[in-house]
Amino acid sequence: MSNLRLPKAGTIEVVPSILSSDFAKLADEIAEIESAGVKMVHLDIMDGHFVPNMTIGPPVVAKLRQHDHDLVFDCHLMITEPARFIESFAEAGANHMTFHIEVTDKPEEIIDKLHALGCTAGVCLNPDTPVEAIEKVAPLCDMVLVMTVHPGFGAQEFMPEAAKKIIRVREIVGPDIRVEVDGGIDPEKTPIVVSYGADTLVAGHAIFSQTDRVAAINAIRDAAK
Ligand code: DX5
Ligand code: ZN
Repeated sequence: MSNLRLPKAGTIEVVPSILSSDFAKLADEIAEIESAGVKMVHLDIMDGHFVPNMTIGPPVVAKLRQHDHDLVFDCHLMITEPARFIESFAEAGANHMTFHIEVTDKPEEIIDKLHALGCTAGVCLNPDTPVEAIEKVAPLCDMVLVMTVHPGFGAQEFMPEAAKKIIRVREIVGPDIRVEVDGGIDPEKTPIVVSYGADTLVAGHAIFSQTDRVAAINAIRDAAK
């Protein structure tokens, strides 16, 4: 368990995604991005069902939490049965969990359960999912995640049409709920998504493909200004 919370809305946050990091030295990779002053780290959880790839589960999150007490663990659950696993992830030290709207017809129950577990809640939209799918539940969340690639892999091409949904999501949630964007974000794409209303910028390849990760994070921050 961890009591860290999402930073209050109103600031731009760069959130490194570990998917493009070296999984064989994950704790060191996370320590390095933390030295850039990021407040959150994006942990991509994949089950091989919802997406054609697999990554980490609660035991790895728990071990990472033993190494890190200060970063908000932003867990992106690309899994078909989020309700079955959120308790384990909360116990492991997840602070925020995002589930996909495509996998459930009871999103309110998942959001309530996350809040009861002391976590913040996020709902996510795939590139092909219309904003209407989350219109009712988005205001109940602490953050809404808009995918700008098909989930499953890092280093994919940014999808400009999917990014435009950020505009409508921001209209729905107002200024007090974070709008996160995930997929193909780099310094070039950053001004576009920020102008649409995103304030929480996930980036994997753009950070971990660089030898100087701190400089890569700062380049995204500068592009957001
Ligand atoms: C994709 C993941 C992303 C991914 C983003 O399924 O949800 O978080 O790591 O990576 P980049 O920034 O490389 O597109
Ligand atoms: Zn992600």
